[in-house]
Amino acid sequence: MTGDLRHPIFARLYPRMDAATARAGGADHRAELLKGATGRALEIGAGHGANFAHYPPGVTGAVALEPEPTLRARAEEAAARAPVPVAVRAGTAEDLDLDDASFDVAIASLVLCSVRDPVRVLAELRRVLRPGGELRYYEHVRGDTPGMVRYQRYADLVWHHLAAGCRVARPTGQWIAGAGFTVVRERRFIFPESRVPNPAGPHLIGVAVRD
Ligand SMILES: C[S@@+](CC[C@H](N)C(=O)[O-])C[C@H]1O[C@@H](n2cnc3c(N)ncnc32)[C@H](O)[C@@H]1O
Repeated sequence: MTGDLRHPIFARLYPRMDAATARAGGADHRAELLKGATGRALEIGAGHGANFAHYPPGVTGAVALEPEPTLRARAEEAAARAPVPVAVRAGTAEDLDLDDASFDVAIASLVLCSVRDPVRVLAELRRVLRPGGELRYYEHVRGDTPGMVRYQRYADLVWHHLAAGCRVARPTGQWIAGAGFTVVRERRFIFPESRVPNPAGPHLIGVAVRD
């Protein structure tokens, strides 16, 4: 795993933005993401640890990686309150300093939009998951109409400068399906619902099993 990625302004704003999103339904999405997860868990790009409170009791312990130091400090506070043991560590998801087949479940939540190389990250997640292990994902993704995709591509010209490298037009669902996983459950929805289309509106919540 490599060093820190610093986004100090985003790191200060994101927990507040996420609190508002949580009240609008984001907390329910996180609970849906994690419902029924069991065993040893790896979460990448854990941010300020918004998922930790939703880890179910079947999770025996978790490693949570976060490369942004301010967010990582917040994640450490959240880990102290979490219902299961969570070890927060520095690290980017493209190069996991973790053993092959050493996790039962991997969690990617609002992060495959932001990593530098999502295909490589998925290969790394596949490597560290045991055969039959689960990738649980909650991601905003490329829209499913040509008009939306065009809009997202325009938005991406500026979006990633404002949101710490986040891109809205990524076909993350297709990448997951092509990365050695079988999708066993997936729900597609727009969030938040708004009159003006939000380029980051199309979302997926799903579970894919490592082949
Ligand atoms: C939008 S935030 C989401 C945080 C958290 N996963 C959540 O659900 O609230 C994106 C996160 O991805 C992290 N990130 C960016 N590039 C990364 C990388 N290459 N590897 C791992 N995490 C990364 C950022 O530091 C940030 O915490």
